[in-house]
Amino acid sequence: MAQHDIVIIGAGLAGLRAAFEGVTAGLNTAVVSKIHPLRSHSCAAQGGVNAAINPADDWHHHAYDTVKGADFVGDQDSIDMMCAEAPQAVLDLDKMGCPFSREDDGTIAQRAFGGQNFPRTAYAADRTGHAMLHTLWEQAIKYGVHVYDEYFLMELTSENQRATGAVVMDIRTGKLQHLQAKAVCVATGGYGRMFAANTNAMTNTGDGIAHAMRAGAPAADLEFVQFHPTGLLRSGILISEGVRGEGAYLIGADGQRFMQKYAPNKLELASRDVVSRSMVTEINQGNGKNGGVFLDVRHLGKHLILERLPQIRQLAMDFEGVDPIDEPIPVRPTCHYTMGGIRTDKLGQSIALKGLFAAGEAACVSVHGANRLGANSLLETIVFGKITGKDMVDFVKNREGRDGVATDSTHAVAKVSARIAALKARPREGGVRQSSIREALVNEMQENCSVFRDEARLNSAWSAIKAAKDGLSKMYIDDKSEAFNTDLITALEMENLVLMAEGTVATAMERKESRGAHSRTDFPTRDDEHWMTHITAGYDPATREVVLGRDAVRITGNPQYAPAERKY
Ligand code: FUM
Repeated sequence: MAQHDIVIIGAGLAGLRAAFEGVTAGLNTAVVSKIHPLRSHSCAAQGGVNAAINPADDWHHHAYDTVKGADFVGDQDSIDMMCAEAPQAVLDLDKMGCPFSREDDGTIAQRAFGGQNFPRTAYAADRTGHAMLHTLWEQAIKYGVHVYDEYFLMELTSENQRATGAVVMDIRTGKLQHLQAKAVCVATGGYGRMFAANTNAMTNTGDGIAHAMRAGAPAADLEFVQFHPTGLLRSGILISEGVRGEGAYLIGADGQRFMQKYAPNKLELASRDVVSRSMVTEINQGNGKNGGVFLDVRHLGKHLILERLPQIRQLAMDFEGVDPIDEPIPVRPTCHYTMGGIRTDKLGQSIALKGLFAAGEAACVSVHGANRLGANSLLETIVFGKITGKDMVDFVKNREGRDGVATDSTHAVAKVSARIAALKARPREGGVRQSSIREALVNEMQENCSVFRDEARLNSAWSAIKAAKDGLSKMYIDDKSEAFNTDLITALEMENLVLMAEGTVATAMERKESRGAHSRTDFPTRDDEHWMTHITAGYDPATREVVLGRDAVRITGNPQYAPAERKY
């Protein structure tokens, strides 16, 4: 057992930013990560981070673009807060030494991104997440954040509706440990690995969200899954929206641009849901090649490509065998981001479990609603990492966190230990390997719960969820050892991913309208009368099923945010 004031599960940008607040406030702060923090998926973010830092811009415009991008189901108080705090959050990172790209006059460079009316995306070439993550990691080391790296989350503990800590496994040794905490934060990212084609790291299996649901903290907005228009055709690897921000075109197999048919004003820089649907429509109508279309950057010229887009050039050469200086890049929409997460109040605390906080992609503070704008994700991590970190400090120093509620560590560890023993004891005969469950699940989700959905497809996906759950009850592992048992870890990740997929399909079936990234061909229009609401997804331990509910969208009353038809 170890005791900390604050334990943060996940050490990507949101986790490290929250840890910075804890440790600089003098609290004993720990981060837990199943990989080394510098391998966190935040590192893969390419194009940039939005903030109205140009004097000609205004955070109110950023907020409106975000409310509209969210298709009016984002929480308006959180959106206002995020956009108002954005400039300072970016300047904090700048002061910490983050190597943002610069204009000739030394100001932070900004580029255009989708769904926005001002070029407000600050960037570090096309490796912005990498630059930001290294900056915050340096701060974690400087201020002495306690780091449990290569520790896997096994369970979130609670007493009387209060979070009390986490049982974690040291992956190196297989040993279990209970980390007691006065405040616990989940910052484990999303669950994009449930789709066959995705831009996500292997680690994005929704562990923290799934455990929060099991601990009594419902998730929300799980039906809203973002498909990024430009993943590489074969691997799904991200080709940044920043490329289109720099002026790249989307072209079909006929060599012609097609976005003017779908978004006559913003063209390739319409919101991601709109661009992805347009691409799939073109592909379905026969204007694609091998299931994709093309991203053409040739007209931008070699100099710009080498200076501002070096990584995407390298990725296109390595994974598609195409040098974008000379040839268009084959791309298709791939799952990129999951808008759903642990449902929180506007400062990041779970609406149901006191002392449990969430930040970043794992949270549903709902700044993204039904569709996230590109470059608002890095922003969310640094704004809500900071805000949630500060609220945890306040919770620990001045509020219920002072009470000293604790869980019996011996009992908590014994319970988890029994679960692992049972999994290791499962017989091979008549059993299923996690890889078979995964393969069937991700293909089904891709086929029937992705860019376009309808009742028949969702019913098919639901049958696949049932089959996956049945598979989990028979899942066995070959490796019974303790040290670095990746067979065990991937099986446990599979349990989490299946729960997240169950929540995604259940909420997609429930929402009988089309809004943002949730596009139902059987309910093709937005229905504000019935669906201006979040759908929550909790977990019932008795039935082992997801339970749906509702939570109101937080409306500020700003008349400019009144729902309107979304056109780009
Ligand atoms: O396209 C990109 O660079 C991704 C950015 C984002 O998802 O925010």
